Amino acid sequence: MSAPLRYALIGATGIGAYHLAALRKLEETGRLRVVAVADPALAKDEALAADLAARGVAAHLDYRAMLRGEAGLDVVVISAPIPLHLEMTTACLERGLFVYLEKPPVPLIQQLETLLAAKGQERVGVGFQMINARWVQELKAGIVAGALGQLQEIRIGAAWPRLDAYYARNSAAGKMTLRGEPVFDGPATNALAHLIHNAMYFAGETQTGFGVPEEVTGALYRTRAIESYDVASLRCRFPSGVRLTAALAHATEEPFPFQVEVRGTAGRARVSGDGTIFESDRITFDSRPETFEELVEKTHRQFLAFVQGAQPFAATSLEDTRGYLLATNGLLLSSGGIHPVAADSIRTYRRGEEGGYNVAGLHEAVRATVETGALFTDLGLPWAVETPPVSVHDLKTIDFASLASS
Ligand SMILES: NC(=O)c1ccc[n+]([C@@H]2O[C@H](COP(=O)([O-])OP(=O)(O)OC[C@H]3O[C@@H](n4cnc5c(N)ncnc54)[C@H](O)[C@@H]3O)[C@@H](O)[C@H]2O)c1
Repeated sequence: MSAPLRYALIGATGIGAYHLAALRKLEETGRLRVVAVADPALAKDEALAADLAARGVAAHLDYRAMLRGEAGLDVVVISAPIPLHLEMTTACLERGLFVYLEKPPVPLIQQLETLLAAKGQERVGVGFQMINARWVQELKAGIVAGALGQLQEIRIGAAWPRLDAYYARNSAAGKMTLRGEPVFDGPATNALAHLIHNAMYFAGETQTGFGVPEEVTGALYRTRAIESYDVASLRCRFPSGVRLTAALAHATEEPFPFQVEVRGTAGRARVSGDGTIFESDRITFDSRPETFEELVEKTHRQFLAFVQGAQPFAATSLEDTRGYLLATNGLLLSSGGIHPVAADSIRTYRRGEEGGYNVAGLHEAVRATVETGALFTDLGLPWAVETPPVSVHDLKTIDFASLASS
């Protein structure tokens, strides 16, 4: 067997801890070894620093020092905050390394274009691990096999309430920019971004392909006193004529576990309960649940096979995220910035020590989006704002600075 691939991890706490755990399980196969970790938090996290030292893993506070100092690295896993993704990925590609990059790859379409123009960009895999969920693969296989007839519509709804601590979790939370770098934090572009990426996957015409929308309509709304948004209503039209409608929110008191409905000329399929309930007249699902940890490990296994040449592609390449970026950037463009929800539609609530925000009628509107394919404006919500459709065909850049401040 060849020598184990030499892995490094940038960002070791938060989601990084899950990556470290997954990589340690894969170390048992003898195919890789985590040789270095870079994270400024190691200056204070004595337990992690001691654990790394005990395993002979080099600890760095600065990722650039790690890239300069560690000879013979093969793969870097980037699990650092979103505004750092572009510079870190660029630095890794300049050294000819493979990169497993946490989602979202970057916030802006122009940043994706920059990465796609970089030498070695095909060595990047993006960690949208939900693509590897059994139900996502089964639904996609059913669509591609024509089980639902001609694909017509994809609908998505989710309300995952987020309380004060979520917005205090790090300095990028609830921000559009941080120290001049784009963040674009919010349900469609962070916590529920997987659902938009999955929708692009369902719209793709082959088992491994991703759809790219040509027109986007929608609006972003702000309920809390944040720079960014906590409610999104989105419609995308694909060149095939397929339509995606999505409602994604953090500003409800009651959760609405995600629902995905896919409709074709011959039938429909719905997955709900955050991927635990399956209904379809035409597709049979294997409903065994999978944990977040299992999906992260599966995605690492797949990326490892890609690095070793045993698989021709990573689950999600940079180019595969074009649809996600055009959907979310087109949404901001169509929205023309972020719209405040009228104060008389907002109620605050407490959960123990923490506060949350609830928008009147939002929970019902998320459900209605899945049931009818309506945008919030179609549902007559008093705070919903009519916005124009924008063409994202060939969209290469958006004026983020002015959109982020309007
Ligand atoms: N795949 C998923 O389902 C999923 C879920 C949550 C978050 N994420 C993504 O994971 C990434 C990290 O998110 P998080 O919530 O763990 O963030 P976080 O703010 O907790 O930061 C992660 C780690 O990065 C470190 N870090 C900060 N600055 C750094 C620097 N300059 N160099 C090296 N390390 C640095 C932090 O100290 C921390 O250990 C983001 O892209 C986020 O969107 C993915």
